Amino acid sequence: MDRPRTPYLVERMQGFGTTIFAEMSALATATGAINLGQGFPDTDGPAELVEAAIAAIRAGDNQYPPGIGIAPLRDAVAEHQERFWGLSFDPDTEVLVTAGATEAIAATLLALLEVGDEVIVFEPYYDSYAASIALAGAQRRCVTLRPPDYSFSVDALRAAVTARTRVVLVNSPHNPTGKVLSRAELEAIAAVCVEHDLIAVTDEVYEHLVYDGCEHVPLATLAGMRDRTVTISSAGKSFSMTGWKTGWVCARPELVSAVRTVKQFLTYVHGAPFQHAAAAGLRLPDAYFEELAVEMASKRDLLAGGLADAGFVVYPQSGTYFVTVDIRPLGETDGLAFCRSLPERCGVVAVPTAVFYDDAEAGAPLVRFMFGKRREVLEEAVVRLKGLTS
Ligand SMILES: Cc1ncc(COP(=O)(O)O)c(C=O)c1O
Repeated sequence: MDRPRTPYLVERMQGFGTTIFAEMSALATATGAINLGQGFPDTDGPAELVEAAIAAIRAGDNQYPPGIGIAPLRDAVAEHQERFWGLSFDPDTEVLVTAGATEAIAATLLALLEVGDEVIVFEPYYDSYAASIALAGAQRRCVTLRPPDYSFSVDALRAAVTARTRVVLVNSPHNPTGKVLSRAELEAIAAVCVEHDLIAVTDEVYEHLVYDGCEHVPLATLAGMRDRTVTISSAGKSFSMTGWKTGWVCARPELVSAVRTVKQFLTYVHGAPFQHAAAAGLRLPDAYFEELAVEMASKRDLLAGGLADAGFVVYPQSGTYFVTVDIRPLGETDGLAFCRSLPERCGVVAVPTAVFYDDAEAGAPLVRFMFGKRREVLEEAVVRLKGLTS
């Protein structure tokens, strides 16, 4: 896709001008359409987090916190990793608090990549990966996840490894497809990392949004991976507080130390009150996390059913709050043009997944809808989408 040049912007960031989310959200505002494009819920998360943030502010916790994050949050992250995934991290040397997963990803890639290094990413990929890799002066090499189940070819993964490969960037549960990588798929990735002595960076921000009895397997739990994996997550999705931007990195001390060196010059520290809130969230009982997943799965069923009734091919998903469809049964082939016309045609906004691919053809007919909204909003969206074919 030819993009206009952005004045003043450095060469390596050309093409990253305006995200599709900004364009589609502006369309939603301009047309009054239901925004199922951008990935944020329309209800607040648990009251316990709100109270913890307010209490921290009232208690005067309003100055720079420690660079690695406040001890209660680092303790809570370590306890959470142990409670849910059986992973043990030292909260003092193996946990780093960041300004959301986004900063964790940027700081990690800037810390680990030399100019000219290569990173293997699975496409479609979350857009910040490409930008952070470009900022680092590195190159991405894509392995394509293909519908209907968004699996990948292990041969393609092996073929993507070169002498310059340094990092494999993994995201499971996966945005935008909703795919939860199976243990076997993760084992294949782990084998490649071990064989070629690569570092894995895993983005697990949707770790608690997993449905249908699927299991989330953190890559760091697999043989040979504990000390070569940088595990990244955040509070945004697990606690429906995406605007609070509290994230963290877990890895062995040398890796955390490298990431921290960069992180301190990006944001220095992350907002103290929100760190107290995230700590409270991570300590919520198991029932909170189970109920969140049950509720999201029922919303998934509602929207996926509506999309199927509207005539789309709906690809199965078992994690995140995204579902992808193929628009070809509706006589459409270009997801970008389709999404630009959708608000006008039926008052709903979605995102073309082509923007998350290097192989634009592979993503052209695919569109992502977000179902983490209130039921009544999804019900109205389903009614509107039906109007597309009637
Ligand atoms: C896969 C993935 N990683 C990271 C993020 C960003 O997380 P945060 O808001 O914690 O920076 C998102 C947000 O949508 C995401 O979908």
